[in-house]
This record gives sequence, C-alpha cells and structure tokens, in this order.
Amino acid sequence: MPVEVIPTGAALGAEIRGLDLSKPLGDADFEAVSQAWYDHVVLLFRGQKVSDDDLIRFSRHFGELDIAPASATDMAGAQEKSRPEIWIISNVVENGKPIGALGDKEAEWHTDMSYVAEPPMASVLYSLEIPSAGGNTSFANMYKALEELPADLRAAIEGRNCNHDSSTTSVGELRAGAHAVLDVREAPGAMHPAIRTHPVTGGKALYLGRRLNGWLEGYSVEESEKLLDRLWAHCAKPEFSWTHRWAVGDLLIWDNRCAIHRRESFDGRERRVMHRTQIKGDAPR
Ligand code: OGA
Ligand code: MN
Repeated sequence: MPVEVIPTGAALGAEIRGLDLSKPLGDADFEAVSQAWYDHVVLLFRGQKVSDDDLIRFSRHFGELDIAPASATDMAGAQEKSRPEIWIISNVVENGKPIGALGDKEAEWHTDMSYVAEPPMASVLYSLEIPSAGGNTSFANMYKALEELPADLRAAIEGRNCNHDSSTTSVGELRAGAHAVLDVREAPGAMHPAIRTHPVTGGKALYLGRRLNGWLEGYSVEESEKLLDRLWAHCAKPEFSWTHRWAVGDLLIWDNRCAIHRRESFDGRERRVMHRTQIKGDAPR
C-alpha cells in the first residue's frame, strides 16, 4: 500500500497513512516519510501499537538518538534502564516518585533542549495513556513566522544571537541544582543565531528557544525584552500553528529546527503517559 500524506490544512503538520510502525520501514517508505517531514515539519501517525524497541527503531531512521538525562532515569522504576533512549513524559506518580517528566502543567512555547550547543534536531512522542480533556499539543511553523515577520523586527535580529536559558524546564520549573536567573545576560545555557538555516531544506527559520530568560545579544535588557515580547507575540499567532488532540496510539515527530511547540495543562487526577525519543542535531547556524 502506498504511503498517503494528508496535510492538516494548517500552517504545518501532515498525517501519514498506510504505515504500521511496529514493522521495519522499507527504504522507499522512509524516503516518502522523510520528504513529507521536510515539507510539513510535523508528522502524525495514528493508531500505532509500538513497543519501545519499535519506537527506537523508527526514530533511528532519522539519525542517532540522545540518551535520557540522569534526572529522567533517576525517576521511579518505569524508566527502563535497559533502554536509555526512551524518555517518559508523564504526570503519573508511583510510590511517591514521578515516572516521567513535565507533570500536568502547561508547557509554554519552546523548542526542545536548545540550551545546549548542539540541540536535538527532532523529537518523537508516542501516546500510551491520555486524559479525557486538555493536554493538547500545538506546533508553530518558524519558517512562516520568519517570512511574515515585520521588516523592522527582522532587521533588529538579523545576524544576532539569542541566549537559550537552561535553568528551567519547559513547564517553567527550576531544574535541580540550578539557580534562579537574576540577569538574563548571565543566564546559563547556549547562544544561537536568532535566525537559523535548516541544514537539509536550506530554509531560514526563527530560532528563539523559549521566552523565559531570553536575551538578544548586543541589546540592553530593556531593549531586548521589548523585542522578544514582540517576537513571541508574533510567533504565537494562530495562523502559524496547528493543535493536535491526542488519542491513544498517536505518534508525532517534529523538527525542532523550524518549529516550536506548547502543551496545555490537564487535570492532574487523570493519567497521561507518553514515550519519547530525541534525535541528535548539530550546532544551529
Ligand atoms: C516534549 C514536550 C509535549 C507534550 O516532550 O518535549 O514538550 O505534549 N511534550 O507532552
Ligand atoms: Mn518539548
């Protein structure tokens, strides 16, 4: 059966039909998936029944995988030590310990782990248990956000770096051992170009990481705050985004180089369990 690509009709995202990801992917099928991914930035595969090994095998088509950080493997027993490539995203608490990361709070717009020198190019998220409401995940297309950026804002950031703070998680909580940032110019993390060129598609995209503790190099904190507020208000415009409402068995892969994402909060009395992988990337330029 040929692979079907069904665009969401929004600014990014497409559903792929006709593939069972519990089976190895042939070269032609992967070629079709890969092309669709570069074209649509986020791909959705519905109704999948994949084991952790399947998830790892599928993810490896795109590149080498990151290993979940010690803070994740340290969580309750659910994080299988034998498969360090699997990261658990969950609010479930077992024996007083969370089995995964991010809890039930809202995660504001961000791109994954951009606070390191070589951030992951992609993340893969597979849903095992989902709450009856909330917890939807939205994506925004940063090629389009850059294309539509007002000229004065573009001129203000062209050729500049932005810092990407590592002190807090995507739900805004201080990481273990981190200190609260008092001056954004001193925030720990990484500096990357505010506009990056995608190494495969050659497209230019806005690359800001997250709003919290951001700073545009070369500006006073006050000027940078004003610019970042305008930039983030622009990125968050509905015309650049698409929201995914999860069902069990959905698998998403997104490109961190040209998309940002956010997650709604949900009722913490319900369970949400997702397994995830992360694909290594190179230094933004
Ligand atoms: C992530 C993330 C969103 C979600 O895994 O990087 O932001 O829907 N998760 O859980
Ligand atoms: Mn994320």
